[in-house]
Amino acid sequence: MQVFLETERLLLRQFTEDDLENLVDLDSDPDVMRFLTGGPPTPRAVLQNDYLPAYLRYYERHEGFGFWAAIEKATGEFLGWFHFRPPEGGPADEPELGYRLRKAAWGKGYGTEGSRALIRKGFTELGVRRVVASTYQDNIGSRRVMEKAGMTLVRSFRPTPADFASHFPYDDAPQKVWDGDEVEYALEKAEWERQGAAAREQLPGNENPAEREASRAPGRAIPPD
Ligand SMILES: CC(C)(COP(=O)(O)OP(=O)(O)OC[C@H]1O[C@@H](n2cnc3c(N)ncnc32)[C@H](O)[C@@H]1OP(=O)(O)O)[C@@H](O)C(=O)NCCC(=O)NCCS
Repeated sequence: MQVFLETERLLLRQFTEDDLENLVDLDSDPDVMRFLTGGPPTPRAVLQNDYLPAYLRYYERHEGFGFWAAIEKATGEFLGWFHFRPPEGGPADEPELGYRLRKAAWGKGYGTEGSRALIRKGFTELGVRRVVASTYQDNIGSRRVMEKAGMTLVRSFRPTPADFASHFPYDDAPQKVWDGDEVEYALEKAEWERQGAAAREQLPGNENPAEREASRAPGRAIPPD
């Protein structure tokens, strides 16, 4: 198993040819596909002949970026995937973050955990300058993951037919599904560093010394030891 990244509860590993059924199963759930295709599954043949081979080729061409299978450490279960890679024709130091998890894995913080770890690795090891991510305006779960990873809204835009064609080359259905906008979020390295410094200051024992003194001043309730 080619592990790319490990978090407290997740392993992100390279895909292999044996993952076809995992992908078919993931993309067969209408709830998972709701904000992607409106519900219809990705056809097996497309996963087998286009998507999975593209994921596998990517590891050879672009070290450090690509699609990563998310495995729950406690159970060894395939939970879905994250991608972290420059968009087609985009700058190499501005990867796009994305994720798709099985419904059984939702609401446990996995989306946030994997995203934060990829962003950290990007900024500290992969020479990334800026991370971007986009989703449909009503995909609140996805937007919350972006926000909890420190990203902020940059713009809303209406995808063009060419955008749909590049994301769903096998089907024109999504064009008929959406009447709202896509939202794009981003995080610059300098902002991520600033957020990290601010968060460290909140940790117990890292308070500003002046504040610590103030909290000991007479009249302030001091918690018992
Ligand atoms: C989007 C997705 C990855 C979120 O993963 P997740 O592991 O459930 O997210 P987390 O548990 O880290 O939750 C992050 C935050 O979003 C909130 N959230 C998650 N799903 C939500 C939903 N459907 N509605 C409202 N809030 C939601 C969580 O409550 C949490 O916020 P909080 O800590 O303030 O309570 C998952 O729902 C998914 O795979 N969806 C299908 C595929 C998809 O739409 N991918 C994105 C396409 S761009």
